[in-house]
Amino acid sequence: MNAPIKKIVLPVAGLGTRFLPATKAIPKEMLPVLDKPLIQYAVEEALEAGIEDIILVTGRNKQVMEDHFDHAYELEKILQEKGKDDGLEVARSMLLEEGRISYVRQMRPLGLGHAIWCARKLVNGHPFAVALPDDLIKGRPGALKQMVEAYNELGGNMVASMNVSREDTSKYGVITPGEHTKNRIAVEGLVEKPHPEDAPSTQAVVGRYILQPEVMDHLSEKAVGAGGEIQLTDAMAKLIGKQPFHAIEFDGTRFDCGSKIGWLMANLSLAAEDPHMAHEIRQLITFR
Ligand code: G1P
Repeated sequence: MNAPIKKIVLPVAGLGTRFLPATKAIPKEMLPVLDKPLIQYAVEEALEAGIEDIILVTGRNKQVMEDHFDHAYELEKILQEKGKDDGLEVARSMLLEEGRISYVRQMRPLGLGHAIWCARKLVNGHPFAVALPDDLIKGRPGALKQMVEAYNELGGNMVASMNVSREDTSKYGVITPGEHTKNRIAVEGLVEKPHPEDAPSTQAVVGRYILQPEVMDHLSEKAVGAGGEIQLTDAMAKLIGKQPFHAIEFDGTRFDCGSKIGWLMANLSLAAEDPHMAHEIRQLITFR
């Protein structure tokens, strides 16, 4: 039986430069889509997938995320006194039992691979999931649950994947696809942000992963890859052929909320499904 996925690493140390000035003083992971910050969507998706331990890899100016997952005593007290039970419930909804959320600092911005490596002691030799909170995925069930279900059958390593235009391949990790069964594609190669003419396919990696602990050994080598950064993609590529490796074409829609247009589309898409907003938002989009 495959060892269950009980841990997730959420890298949240990035600077969010594509979203300045909004992200000058607040972390990009705290940008709300409707009424919830991006980081909360990622944690909720992980909990839905049965994941128990949440590991945030943070950086400078990210402390507000710790507060988000903690009691807000003053707020709770005022809501309680005013009898605002609904508000109180929302304010307390993200309180996990102490010890289930851990924080580790990435002290230097050396890349996604380095961020994941910073969590090695907390991952502690177990297989684990990774989610990039900028990639908001709307899916029922969520993408991580879909991947955990596939993992329970196939084991090994997994990336979430979607087809992109050839010109966009330079923004993503791209797979060399092997056998394709249902929504599962055997991964025969992986390359980070190739030039479109060199891309081995148009099947891109999006920000959800299930990884075996051996990836940490490769990350320890600290090899520098695309963009002068330590890339997770390069460390994962070294596992291919040694361990099962699949790309999962998840059922859902992914929004790149690190970009203004992706974030706006996520807001519109979720609002269009919200019974309190759908009518007005559909009118706005149709008539103006
Ligand atoms: C990261 C990964 C890349 C992946 C992408 C998905 O890139 O390095 O392989 O395709 O996330 O969003 P970033 O967008 O952080 O540059």
